[in-house]
Amino acid sequence: MTVAAEYGGSSRPPAGGETSPEKLLVPVLSAFWDQPEAWTLETYRRHEGYEGLRKALAMSPDDVIAYVKDSGLRGRGGAGFPTGMKWQFIPQGDGKPHYLVVNADESEPGTCKDIPLLFANPHALIEGIVIACHAIRAHHAFIYLRGEVVPVLRRLHEAVREAYAAGLLGKNILGSGLDLDVIVHAGAGAYICGEETALLDSLEGRRGQPRLRPPFPAVAGLYACPTVVNNVESIASVPAILNKGKDWFRSMGSEKSPGFTLYSLSGHVANPGQYEAPLGITLRQLLDMSGGMRRGHRLKFWTPGGSSTPMFTGEHLDVPLDYEGVGAAGSMLGTKALQCFDETTCVVRAVTRWTEFYAHESCGKCTPCREGTYWLVQLLRDIEAGRARMTDLDKIADIADNINGKSFCALGDGAASPIFSSLTYFREEYEQHITGKGCPFDPAKSTLWADNDAHLGVNA
Ligand SMILES: Cc1cc2nc3c(=O)[nH]c(=O)nc-3n(C[C@H](O)[C@H](O)[C@H](O)COP(=O)(O)O)c2cc1C
Ligand code: SF4
Repeated sequence: MTVAAEYGGSSRPPAGGETSPEKLLVPVLSAFWDQPEAWTLETYRRHEGYEGLRKALAMSPDDVIAYVKDSGLRGRGGAGFPTGMKWQFIPQGDGKPHYLVVNADESEPGTCKDIPLLFANPHALIEGIVIACHAIRAHHAFIYLRGEVVPVLRRLHEAVREAYAAGLLGKNILGSGLDLDVIVHAGAGAYICGEETALLDSLEGRRGQPRLRPPFPAVAGLYACPTVVNNVESIASVPAILNKGKDWFRSMGSEKSPGFTLYSLSGHVANPGQYEAPLGITLRQLLDMSGGMRRGHRLKFWTPGGSSTPMFTGEHLDVPLDYEGVGAAGSMLGTKALQCFDETTCVVRAVTRWTEFYAHESCGKCTPCREGTYWLVQLLRDIEAGRARMTDLDKIADIADNINGKSFCALGDGAASPIFSSLTYFREEYEQHITGKGCPFDPAKSTLWADNDAHLGVNA
């Protein structure tokens, strides 16, 4: 019997019938995280580090862009926009400075891939930055890092220092004539500063709030100059593509979602962590190879890509985790943050907690999100405490509908997602809170939320 039997939902055998990690995992970015001093330039070089850069510098900038475009790499920051195409939007010969900004803000609940990647293998990002800047003809790159992660900040600073000392940054990189400076910038810990235009405002020293688009960053980004904003994992994936080839990259995943990626398993699973695999793997396969849900428990609901993506249930274990597969099943691949919750978790509690996060992080610029998230929290707290009426279920759906697609940026849509999806799959559980005048779950048995709440004091 496979551990899949613990998951609940469908009892089909795992797709492909093969669940050994050797067959399913493709460690590329994570290939040597477990080695001593994985983060140093020396270790990186022992694993073909900066070979992709040598190949890229021998190509013209336009050819590098075409190569990355042909590889089919899609942005790993959530939306899956083709990376090469984004680079191609940068106007050439315009006489303006061009900038690359790496989005390392990583604050979406459940998302936890960029921070470990930067901590264990910062040179993959730095090499990717040099390649990208060669391609878009930029001489300055910025890494906007979530400010709370001071150990990663220190490690990034050290990796940048090593790269300068080795002639991989600075003037005339590897004799190519390319000059490039990299600036590591620590944000102040606001989720909205991960939204690319709010990030640019924050980087310029303003309050981090989203900008009106158009103009898009490719035309008027940082300091009103053409700017590419890319996620850490997107840029860090580029060196391997240049080094091993676009056909190698396309040999993984599917036609529209090729390549490898980091899946972050968290929650009530036996072995949480980063699992690097081809796009299109299923949660069932990931759970089967990683030891399944925690012993004696079964999967109740999960997010495919962080709390902003509509939740799934045990019925979705065989959905291919790529952009098309997850989209067809009614959610989004997002950041591939697979947060798994077992049957001890109250879905109303989980959604309330997420909504409290969105209300707290709403930047207040637009009314649907600022007001809507506030009122959602009030109603959800009433529902959870058994103080609500049945009509309040329609009310939260109505408020979410007034946020979704009507807000200034995608934070609002993300806040509406858990409301819609939880009502779709777990309306009865909401109703039980109302008819039973309180939460039917034993908080002592659900480890996840009790600990967090005590720490954050959200119930005060
Ligand atoms: C509220 C909000 C928060 C976001 N946070 C992040 C983040 O932390 N990291 C990130 O790469 N993208 C984040 N994004 C997406 C970015 O706006 C942008 O799409 C992304 O950085 C583009 O990179 P990519 O093309 O490489 O995926 C966020 C978007 C929104 C609406
Ligand atoms: S949707 Fe929310 S976070 Fe985005 S601009 Fe409006 S208030 Fe700010």
